[in-house]
Amino acid sequence: MLISCAVLLLGYLKWAHADNTETFCDDTDKGFICSPEISHYWGQYSPYYSTPSEISADVPSQCTVTFAQVLSRHGARDPTSSKTKTYNETIQKIQQNAESYIGSNITFLEDLEYTLGADELTPFGQRQLYNSGYKFYQRYQALARSKKLFVRASDESRVVESGYNFTRGFHDAMLADVFSHPSQSVTNRTNDYPYPILTISEDADSNNTLSHALCTAFENESDDAITDRGQGPWTDIFLPPIADRINSQLPGANLSLKETSYIMDLCPFFTVASQPTTSSPNGGLSEFCSLFTVDEWRSYDYYQSLGKYYHYGAGDDLGPTQGVGYVNELIARLTHARYVEDHTSVNHTLDDNQSTFPTTDRNEDVLFADFSHDNDMTAIFFALGLYDRTADLNNTQIQEPTDPSVAGYSAAWTASFASRLYVEKLVCGSDASGTSDTADASDEYVRFIVNDRVIPLACADDDGKCLLSAFLETLDFAKSGGKWEQCFE
Ligand SMILES: *[C@@H]1O[C@H](CO)[C@@H](O)[C@H](O)[C@H]1NC(C)=O
Ligand SMILES: *[C@@H]1O[C@H](CO)[C@@H](O)[C@H](O)[C@H]1NC(C)=O
Ligand SMILES: *[C@@H]1O[C@H](CO)[C@@H](O)[C@H](O)[C@H]1NC(C)=O
Ligand SMILES: *[C@@H]1O[C@H](CO)[C@@H](O)[C@H](O)[C@H]1NC(C)=O
Ligand SMILES: *[C@@H]1O[C@H](CO)[C@@H](O)[C@H](O)[C@H]1NC(C)=O
Ligand SMILES: *[C@@H]1O[C@H](CO)[C@@H](O)[C@H](O)[C@H]1NC(C)=O
Ligand SMILES: *[C@@H]1O[C@H](CO)[C@@H](O)[C@H](O)[C@H]1NC(C)=O
Ligand SMILES: *[C@@H]1O[C@H](CO)[C@@H](O)[C@H](O)[C@H]1NC(C)=O
Ligand SMILES: *[C@@H]1O[C@H](CO)[C@@H](O)[C@H](O)[C@H]1NC(C)=O
Ligand SMILES: *[C@@H]1O[C@H](CO)[C@@H](O)[C@H](O)[C@H]1NC(C)=O
Repeated sequence: MLISCAVLLLGYLKWAHADNTETFCDDTDKGFICSPEISHYWGQYSPYYSTPSEISADVPSQCTVTFAQVLSRHGARDPTSSKTKTYNETIQKIQQNAESYIGSNITFLEDLEYTLGADELTPFGQRQLYNSGYKFYQRYQALARSKKLFVRASDESRVVESGYNFTRGFHDAMLADVFSHPSQSVTNRTNDYPYPILTISEDADSNNTLSHALCTAFENESDDAITDRGQGPWTDIFLPPIADRINSQLPGANLSLKETSYIMDLCPFFTVASQPTTSSPNGGLSEFCSLFTVDEWRSYDYYQSLGKYYHYGAGDDLGPTQGVGYVNELIARLTHARYVEDHTSVNHTLDDNQSTFPTTDRNEDVLFADFSHDNDMTAIFFALGLYDRTADLNNTQIQEPTDPSVAGYSAAWTASFASRLYVEKLVCGSDASGTSDTADASDEYVRFIVNDRVIPLACADDDGKCLLSAFLETLDFAKSGGKWEQCFE
């Protein structure tokens, strides 16, 4: 009875999982695999895909992982409520004013019904997080078999839901693992689901390391100033020829540059809204996508990268400061410190309490999962110094993430839907026999892996790992609170 039950369950999981990976565009391991020459160039609207890594992301030989943490963006969603209204108005404008629709690639617009919702995950976005949890379990299986997952989410519905979908995938991977190794003396954790998720308010006065709000000068910064130093000049270079062509295909529509960029946005949004329930001949992409060339998608991707870099990255004087609180939390986790030292966005009521911010127990809660947004993750990545080797992005000339001066930075490589940073601690050499997190700090290493790309930190060796102590020394910016004082000047 017990065995047949397990076999049935295993059969179900296999089936459910195969359904996830084989029929549709999202592969558990590689992420979005359909039409990569287009779908990998949508900036933060790209669905997560595994990015190229010069350094193997495999655990280095002679090393054992003793600590793992994921920081994840929510999955693919509908446009935000203000954007969905604007997009719909753009479609209405076309349908009211276009005298004709010239070219077989644009006739679909004539009868298009605007069906996108607002703010919430699409079914595909939920599936992405399920797959992400499944993958995280498999990658850190040796730890995950015995450790609990400690989960936090910024309190917005799509982010919290992403947390639930991730834990479901994680849990199913665990059950599949445990039941396919029946000889293992593991506890039956079938009933552990659902996992508790600590949610942190996004109110304007809330201390939340997963969602910025407190830094007045940053929140007040003028959009025009951000555009002028970032996306603006590039917009004026790459969009006019595209707008001219689309307008020539839609006589009377008279779309502005901004409206033309909205038509481009609708390619990813209609794509993620229709995955996986429809499959179209061009590999599952929306009809909007074929209105633009592969080169134009590269230009669009760069446009989105400029937007992130010049507001949440090093291109904004206060951008990286928004990630400081999270980095200080990570330091406490990595060093088993009882208290987080931070005077920026940490909520000390939560973090001073081991129930809501466990750091000291070396044998429990070793796996951490945090859920947040693209903008906050971008600030955190810069506060961590992951892109310290990136020169300021040129706002008049495209730079690919493969360009050495960009050092792996692009919105699609770092802030896609369901993008994820893994932080792992390793013990290497003769100390690497056990999996317990009790090694001498002098033997500990740390690695950062963004969408499967091992970040080649300045302190890193050929495996991409830094001595933990050496890495911590690079974090003076965060330890000193970044430029927090300037928030209130
Ligand atoms: C789009 O706008 C039209 C016209 O205002 C409206 O009838 C329709 O309900 C809107 N669609 C959505 C999904 O909001
Ligand atoms: C994602 O989570 C939501 C809310 O808990 C649930 O309704 C949905 O079925 C989940 N989807 C997947 C793929 O796990
Ligand atoms: C694990 O527990 C669940 C729920 O109690 C039960 O249905 C299942 O048969 C158990 N599986 C094994 C392999 O013990
Ligand atoms: C800190 O967290 C506690 C517990 O969730 C909450 O009641 C309080 O409002 C938070 N304080 C700030 C400043 O965010
Ligand atoms: C930010 O904006 C708020 C509301 O508009 C205003 O009260 C405040 O003075 C501004 N603060 C700074 C630092 O500009
Ligand atoms: C097209 O739109 C612009 C504003 O974006 C406006 O100045 C111009 O008059 C319009 N042209 C026509 C022919 O409607
Ligand atoms: C779409 O069709 C028009 C008219 O046939 C053509 O000029 C344009 O190049 C096509 N767009 C793309 C991206 O192929
Ligand atoms: C919230 O952060 C501010 C600094 O931005 C700090 O003064 C305050 O003590 C924090 N509140 C809590 C509950 O940690
Ligand atoms: C720590 O957090 C737990 C869970 O929220 C709560 O029950 C407990 O009272 C808190 N402890 C302290 C000392 O505040
Ligand atoms: C950006 O690219 C343009 C065009 O190639 C070049 O003229 C300019 O010097 C570059 N700017 C910087 C800051 O490198």
